[in-house]
Amino acid sequence: MQIIKSEVMGFCFGVRRAVEAAEEALKKYGKGVYSLGPLIHNENALKELKEKGLLIADEKEISTIKDGSVVIIRAHGVAPDLIEILKNKKCTVIDATCPRVKANQKMVSRYTSAEDYIILTGDKNHGEVIGLAGYAKSNFIQIQNYDEAEKVQLPSNLKGQIVLLSQTTYNPLEFSKIESLLKSRYPQIKVQNTICPATEERQNALLDLCSKVDALIVIGGKNSANTKRLYQTAKENCKFALHIQDESEIPDEIRKYEKIGITAGASTPDKIISLVETALNNMV
Ligand code: F3S
Repeated sequence: MQIIKSEVMGFCFGVRRAVEAAEEALKKYGKGVYSLGPLIHNENALKELKEKGLLIADEKEISTIKDGSVVIIRAHGVAPDLIEILKNKKCTVIDATCPRVKANQKMVSRYTSAEDYIILTGDKNHGEVIGLAGYAKSNFIQIQNYDEAEKVQLPSNLKGQIVLLSQTTYNPLEFSKIESLLKSRYPQIKVQNTICPATEERQNALLDLCSKVDALIVIGGKNSANTKRLYQTAKENCKFALHIQDESEIPDEIRKYEKIGITAGASTPDKIISLVETALNNMV
């Protein structure tokens, strides 16, 4: 059995930065540091941080955070009114919002006229999108896919600006289809492609790997959107593909494959990747 690792896999810059911020805060302040929403979409990594004393407070339960607590803002960012609430509660806020998400928040807040329209592609229930909506000072339209883009109706005598931007982890192909559609209907639209290259880099490296192996293992949380997308690509481009959360889920049937590729989502810690690699090596 030969194991080939993807050229690009695992933690993206923003997630690594947020996890490091949490670990530093736990060292500095001890147990009882809060994360506003789950810090990372990976159960194993989250469990480890919780064992070190990290508390998770849902954004809707912000009132339950004790006054004066230390609170980490995760890589997806949050709406500005939540930061305000924390400041009023005299909390120490550690802002680990990914700089790419921050740039997106700034862009949204730049459009201030009541006649401006911001159109954002993304998952309506995702923390980043909910946070971005909180920065909007003008009309804000969220669309999840091409079908929803087709239903967008702006006033015919529009005087303001129209801008199209995206959640950082949105599908680039879907974005470009939506871009063409909206450009044909509103030629004045400004397009800001704010999709982060981290997701695409992992997808491209995976496609390259699929051509070299007989089986592909995708490591990552079951609730991680980018891991699920990697698994989808692996299924479509490799004879055999698996999505596992950790080494305990490696099935015995993997032994029948000669060349096994491994990749991991942007929220999968290095430690879990190494454990999977070791377990596979031990099966040889
Ligand atoms: Fe940031 Fe891109 Fe990761 S926006 S959180 S580096 S996927």
